[in-house]
Amino acid sequence: MVSASPEPHLFVVMGATGNLMQLKLLPVLFSLQGKGQLPPGTRVLGVARRALDDVGFRTLAASSLRSAKVASDEQVRAFCDTFLFYHQLGGETEGSFADLRRRIEQVEHDHQLPGNRILYLALPLEAISPTVEGIGAAGLNSGPGWTRVVLEKPFGRDLASARSLNQLLGRYFAEQQIFRIDHYLGKETVQNLLVFRFANMFVESLWNRERVDQVEITVAEQVGVADRAEYYDSAGALRDMIQNHATQLLTLVAMEPPATREADSIRNEKVKVLQSAVRIRPADVVRGQYTSGTVNSQAVPGYRQEPGIPPTSGTETYVALRLKLDNWRWQNVPFFVRTGKRLPAKSTQVIVTFKAPPVSIFQTEEEYEVNPDRVTILVQPQEGFEIAFEVKVPGREPRVQTHRMKFHYADVFGPLPDGYETLLVDVMLGDPTHFVRADEVEESWRLYDPVLQHPPPLVFYPAGSEGPREAEALVEQWGHRWFAD
Ligand code: BG6
Repeated sequence: MVSASPEPHLFVVMGATGNLMQLKLLPVLFSLQGKGQLPPGTRVLGVARRALDDVGFRTLAASSLRSAKVASDEQVRAFCDTFLFYHQLGGETEGSFADLRRRIEQVEHDHQLPGNRILYLALPLEAISPTVEGIGAAGLNSGPGWTRVVLEKPFGRDLASARSLNQLLGRYFAEQQIFRIDHYLGKETVQNLLVFRFANMFVESLWNRERVDQVEITVAEQVGVADRAEYYDSAGALRDMIQNHATQLLTLVAMEPPATREADSIRNEKVKVLQSAVRIRPADVVRGQYTSGTVNSQAVPGYRQEPGIPPTSGTETYVALRLKLDNWRWQNVPFFVRTGKRLPAKSTQVIVTFKAPPVSIFQTEEEYEVNPDRVTILVQPQEGFEIAFEVKVPGREPRVQTHRMKFHYADVFGPLPDGYETLLVDVMLGDPTHFVRADEVEESWRLYDPVLQHPPPLVFYPAGSEGPREAEALVEQWGHRWFAD
């Protein structure tokens, strides 16, 4: 049941000393509290292995919040002292989860909480299953109020592991208690895709194989592997960005209109897109890795020279691929998807390119090239959309030029909230619309399993370049091109 407003609860974070809690969840909880959006009475219980008490945890949290420069020292201190508690979870035995349960009940009792719980597993993949087992064995999968469990990506490493994780979760939780986070689904611009498509009649009437020539999805990043060497080297770009974030964008761009705005109505249509997607052949995939180069006028090392990365690592930091959807709407329209680290700029865009007019009476000379019309959905850093179309250049000469009509959120609504902020409120409300359902996550792994099993050979690109040349060739061989700048 989706509540009208968030109810008081205990927000339990497993993995509370880790990066996600310190860099993302804490600032978001702080911001929600500042806006009065944390339900009254709500408390946060951090859980981790590190030997800390409440005071030690508050000091750690305060220093993370201070470095995020979210507010004054006094506000940070007041927030930490009022809302944060800590429990050290010694091991994975049933006993220690029983201790955790006692602590949860104690905090709830002390603060007159009704027993609603969010269990946020901000943990590395290998710790997820033992934690779910521990939660189940201690009976923490249900409580006096509602209990919701939140899982981060990556959800499994492939189809088989995602399936077993779903089965394990299913032993203890009903699907409506499970919130699989993909933070892209919390971005306003991603949520706007549905409004853009289904609230604007002119868009929907063009959004099909009759009118669309190609769809491209680009998720480009300037950053390298940063301080996540161990995780990243075992994941790679396909697991880190394509199977989740880029695939979520794909489903929202390609899905049919849902019958209603209900979560399952929307998620059913997203699943159908994935069911219609043809399993990707390794030959339709380019896997790249960055070598040393220059980004933002700064010399940066190659991936294999990054601290913590093995010097012979075969992990990809770039992927480009071609996807086919075998359905009525999209038959024969190629979907090109790419992502990479250490590219010239951060930019996430979806570009839908329309077919050229059947006869171009204006393109009488080479120099007056007529470009196909395009809709660009800007996800970040700029947020909004643009429509590129041709106009007549004033004068006698029959000249045609491409111009853009722009809608940028920042110009109208100011800065948008962080995706995590939107999603945490959804979890508090019990609204699963922007979370990934069990069948959805399995269908997306099904798509990429052949590539994970038979990865194509790695190619290389210098940091700061546009990516490997092979990514251009992948598209050109089908008579297409990438349009994103
Ligand atoms: C995360 C990936 O899920 O998304 C990171 O693990 C990536 O590797 C990040 O940098 C990108 O998120 P955003 O919101 O900055 O595009």
